Amino acid sequence: MTDRRYLVAGNWKMHNGVADTSALLERLLAEKLPGTVDAVVCPPFVSLPAAAMLLAGSEIGLGAQNVHWEAKGAFTGEIAPGMLTEIGVRWVIVGHSERRSYFGETDETAGKRAAAAQAAGLEVIFCLGETLEQRDAGETLAVLERQSAVLGDLDPAHLVVAYEPVWAIGTGRTASPEQAQEAHAFLRQRLEAAFGGAAAGIRILYGGSVKPQNAAVLFGQPDVDGGLIGGASLDARSFSDIIRAAASCAAGDEQWQYS
Ligand code: PGA
Repeated sequence: MTDRRYLVAGNWKMHNGVADTSALLERLLAEKLPGTVDAVVCPPFVSLPAAAMLLAGSEIGLGAQNVHWEAKGAFTGEIAPGMLTEIGVRWVIVGHSERRSYFGETDETAGKRAAAAQAAGLEVIFCLGETLEQRDAGETLAVLERQSAVLGDLDPAHLVVAYEPVWAIGTGRTASPEQAQEAHAFLRQRLEAAFGGAAAGIRILYGGSVKPQNAAVLFGQPDVDGGLIGGASLDARSFSDIIRAAASCAAGDEQWQYS
């Protein structure tokens, strides 16, 4: 339970071209989503214009999965912040562990992307989290300290942090509520050191094998303000059930059970 408004964001990764995006969003729009929780979907770049049209006037926000820091130029394969805002994108995921491990993203480049995105008016979902080797070596908090250093250069009013332990992403293995809370509380302290009182308004999402069955117990932790959802966001029913789990936590119903 938290005073911050819960946010549930779907990271579709490299799933859903235009036709599949339209079909999934139509199913999602047909779900009766609670109005007490913020919901965002992040389709692949090519599907964003179709998604923007379908989501216009709805309560569901639209995000991209990456963004470059320059406004334009010779950066083959990259997308500028203004190109996203032009088509109605309001959110962007930055620094996802798959970008870090497969595409050479570093703390520095993630920080540059995030700052440029905010300057263009985008809301940033900044991802960080330790690998299994780092956790087993007792380095989790040291890794989070290093990865979160760039957050101090960002605007806290347009920042969401997503704690995603790498070992929990797409593995079916979720952090325990206590493990998530420990990491989130540490990140909250880091944000307080950087931003003072403004840190209290920054949402910290948990990501890594969140499902309808485990969402409420994770979201019930004091510093867990919602989730960044991969696999379970590709199904309208399971994504909307995770949003319902967040709404039950927002309503203070700790006993909510998925059925
Ligand atoms: P997952 O992915 O829910 O499939 O584990 C989460 C993420 O990578 O954002």
